Amino acid sequence: MTPLTLALPKGRLFEQVQEHFAARGLVFDFNDRKLTANDSSGRLKIILVKNADLPTYVHHGIAGLGLCGDDVVYESGYEFPHLLSFDFGHTSMALAARKNHVRTEHLSGSGHLTIATKFTRFTRDYFHGQGVPVKIIRLDGSVELAPVLGLAPYIVDLVETGSTLKANGLEVLETLKKIGVNLFANAAYYKLHYQEIGSLVDTLRTS
Ligand code: PRP
Repeated sequence: MTPLTLALPKGRLFEQVQEHFAARGLVFDFNDRKLTANDSSGRLKIILVKNADLPTYVHHGIAGLGLCGDDVVYESGYEFPHLLSFDFGHTSMALAARKNHVRTEHLSGSGHLTIATKFTRFTRDYFHGQGVPVKIIRLDGSVELAPVLGLAPYIVDLVETGSTLKANGLEVLETLKKIGVNLFANAAYYKLHYQEIGSLVDTLRTS
């Protein structure tokens, strides 16, 4: 049996994914900083990649399947057939600012919000969709620093427990979107491996 190829994201989601799969007989581990592994049942060949690169690997068919948050796929601009939503790893995309921040945009004439974020596509589309003009400053991490250091009064970022915001004296002004974790496929790969993928989805769906 040729294993299905699956891209998984490095980072905070990884352990929850590993646990979910292991509980359904798909046991794997990445030892010695290796970035590829096979699961114990031989059904999967897994590659471990950076979140933002994951959709690129699936789009190019290097991995036939991918698993990550909606936010990551949205930023990539790619669209994939959706296979399964998981009940772990839920977060929210939120607009945040320093506690007791006073809105003064209406005084500046242009009225735009200056927002620092990693999620530039989402932020632009969301606020333009609301008719709110925005100036976006792109950062690649530790976005919470931006309001603290005066780079931008607002951030759009993922909030899970809220502890990073709290530790930096920030608060959520508005929750913009609930973010879930999904399994998806490269469209051509899905057609070619329809049966094996269907059976994998059944395995992963069992509670
Ligand atoms: C995410 C997000 C926040 C943090 C929120 O970052 O960008 O910084 O988690 O989590 P909390 O609400 O539980 O505190 P991540 O840990 O993925 O690292 P990154 O900043 O390098 O993307």
